[in-house]
Amino acid sequence: MPSPPPVRFRLNGQPTEVAVEPARVLLDLLRDDLRLTGTKRGCDLGTCGCCTVLVDGRPSLSCLTLARLVDGREVTTIEGVSPPQGLSPLQRAFVEVGATQCGFCTPGFVVTATAFLRDHPHPSREEIVRAISGNLCRCTGYLKIIEAIERAAAGGA
Ligand code: FES
Ligand code: FES
Repeated sequence: MPSPPPVRFRLNGQPTEVAVEPARVLLDLLRDDLRLTGTKRGCDLGTCGCCTVLVDGRPSLSCLTLARLVDGREVTTIEGVSPPQGLSPLQRAFVEVGATQCGFCTPGFVVTATAFLRDHPHPSREEIVRAISGNLCRCTGYLKIIEAIERAAAGGA
């Protein structure tokens, strides 16, 4: 049986080409085929935000995104969010304020908030709450996550 046609896209800045079955979703491609396991599978239903990645800079739920649809696009996962020298200011803020407990939701929050701070460098608390409303956390009660985003904004994340 011939292999399916390849999808070509940039993944965390690197040109990537991989054969993809038509029904395969981006989350499976990233985690199972490309071994980028920082992106988490929570609900697999589009409700938790754990699987959030950036597609052309916009937060997207990789569990609901057909992998074929990223052909020609730029995909950034949590592995691509950090600068080469270490953690981003936002990631550091998560650590410093204790916004990570079990950590399962953290990659999705960081990816979502990275795009949000890029577009809203001086957000109000209400704007932050709205921006992360698609990401669920079962551990922290959200306050520490909001504080981390505020701290990163104050420090010029
Ligand atoms: S795993 Fe995609 S939204 Fe929950
Ligand atoms: S830190 Fe555990 S789900 Fe958010």
